[in-house]
Amino acid sequence: MKTYSTTISSDLAAAVTLLKQGECVAIPTETVYGLAANALDTMAVAKIFEAKQRPTFDPLIIHTDTLDKVRKFVTQWPALAEMLAAQFWPGPLTMLLPKESLVPDLVTSGLSRVAVRIPHHPITLALLAALDFPLAAPSANPFGYISPTKASHVYDQLHGKIPMILDGGDSEVGIESTIIGFENDLPVVYRLGGLMVEAIEELIGQVKIMPHSSSAPESPGMLLSHYAPRKPLIFDDLRQCLDNYPSSEIGTICFDRPVLEIPLANQIILSTNGSLTEAAAGLFAAMRKQDEAAVKVIFAPTFPAHSLGLAINDRLRRASVR
Ligand code: TXA
Ligand code: MG
Repeated sequence: MKTYSTTISSDLAAAVTLLKQGECVAIPTETVYGLAANALDTMAVAKIFEAKQRPTFDPLIIHTDTLDKVRKFVTQWPALAEMLAAQFWPGPLTMLLPKESLVPDLVTSGLSRVAVRIPHHPITLALLAALDFPLAAPSANPFGYISPTKASHVYDQLHGKIPMILDGGDSEVGIESTIIGFENDLPVVYRLGGLMVEAIEELIGQVKIMPHSSSAPESPGMLLSHYAPRKPLIFDDLRQCLDNYPSSEIGTICFDRPVLEIPLANQIILSTNGSLTEAAAGLFAAMRKQDEAAVKVIFAPTFPAHSLGLAINDRLRRASVR
């Protein structure tokens, strides 16, 4: 595998040049950083899988900047998709729609649907507007690890493997996009994410939520063990944690208040004023911080089970599965 001297910069023209040459560039989005390449160039897409050590049975999301472009990659455009696109794009929503044949099978892992999204980030929208091809981009982390929400997170794990990280600051939403598809015209959420289910239901009525699967997953983002730190993470069960570790060896990731039984210095409170939006934005950075801290295990209590709390609980649950 080729070794690169990885640069972090906000030089849009440099990113355009590299992408046109069929290279991978890490790009900022409002959810998490993505590892992007020309979605219509199989050789370029293959570099994403190589850099991430990602199995090729895990398909990629195609990113573009306009609805007209999205329409080129899908064969059907249901009325509900039209409504969702109008309301939530650009934004943290990915839709699974029947794929047009010009999309390489490597992008969709041979599946009949392609994942499409218009991200909401000024730099990446400008980048997409400057390109005459769409970008395939998974989250810019090694397969199975925590998604990056800062350019430095990408650098820490992928330096040497990619030529450039386009720096767009911290990801504002901080949790991956919500993935929705349609089965017999009925909406199904496959991954809880940065767009609240409540907002989707307000627009199109009740949706089925089907995020978990341990075997033959529809998409590996649905794999039970995913998005995980290297250290064990115990979700919800404080008793189990305290029975197995001295409190001094436990680090926490909490919502708005610390866990009384554990030393304060080991704890990360994501939002002292109780905002789930703020908590989601800081979640992955906190997981990385505890992964590097001098504790042996990470404990996280259940977050309030509504709005972004549902996606936070989903990620913590998966991070806790070994
Ligand atoms: O917010 C996001 O969605 C970020 C940013 C960079 O856009 N991207 C992201 O990509 O999280 P990734 O690859 O880490 O997760 C996308 C998920 C994967 O679990 C993949 O299996 C699923 O989407 N997916 C992609 N294409 C699919 C398809 N054709 N059918 C079923 N699942 C698909
Ligand atoms: Mg990912």
